[in-house]
Amino acid sequence: MSLELRPFTLDDEEAALRAWRAFQGTPFVFLTSYYEGQPWAEYVASLADYREGRNLPEGHVPGAMLAAVVDGVLVGRASVRFELNEYLAAYGGHIGYAVIAEYRRRGYATAILRQALRLASAHGVSPVLLTCDDANVGSATVIERCGGELESVGPDENGVMFRRYWVRV
Ligand SMILES: CC(C)(COP(=O)(O)OP(=O)(O)OC[C@H]1O[C@@H](n2cnc3c(N)ncnc32)[C@H](O)[C@@H]1OP(=O)(O)O)[C@@H](O)C(=O)NCCC(=O)NCCS
Repeated sequence: MSLELRPFTLDDEEAALRAWRAFQGTPFVFLTSYYEGQPWAEYVASLADYREGRNLPEGHVPGAMLAAVVDGVLVGRASVRFELNEYLAAYGGHIGYAVIAEYRRRGYATAILRQALRLASAHGVSPVLLTCDDANVGSATVIERCGGELESVGPDENGVMFRRYWVRV
């Protein structure tokens, strides 16, 4: 499988916004910090700032929001945080990922996480903190397939049980 993780570009607008809409009404946001009606070029520029650690809103950390592409088709995304703030250290972890519903169960999340772990390591992040809801069997399986060692299962800030894993990269 040739899955590529790369920055979102101007050409991704239609597919990325379609995915963003498809995730509305789910607990997961496909395009972090994107707001309805935001010009796509402005959003893409904000992602470049986020990668470089420029103009970050108070409390935000540098990181990369990346498109996961297979044969030119957007199938998912990854968010790799190069640092942790208090919230990420407690709940969010270093890496978030999502696969668009019609492309699930093809090993894409596993491929996304493997590459995201390499990128985190290249930015000096080790070990990597990964979290998922205790009920999210798919995500827990993906994390364990990528070497995640379970640290704990406990309630998050809303009382929802979640798992904390570490991966030594
Ligand atoms: C969780 C998610 C990322 C998994 O993506 P995916 O591309 O389907 O994952 P993979 O194909 O790499 O799955 C790897 C393994 O996980 C397990 N798995 C994946 N989805 C599963 C599900 N819904 N139920 C049970 N097991 C599941 C399977 O064992 C699977 O291997 P198999 O297909 O060979 O049996 C995807 O369902 C998703 O984007 N969900 C919404 C967002 C989300 O939860 N993100 C993670 C937040 S921590």
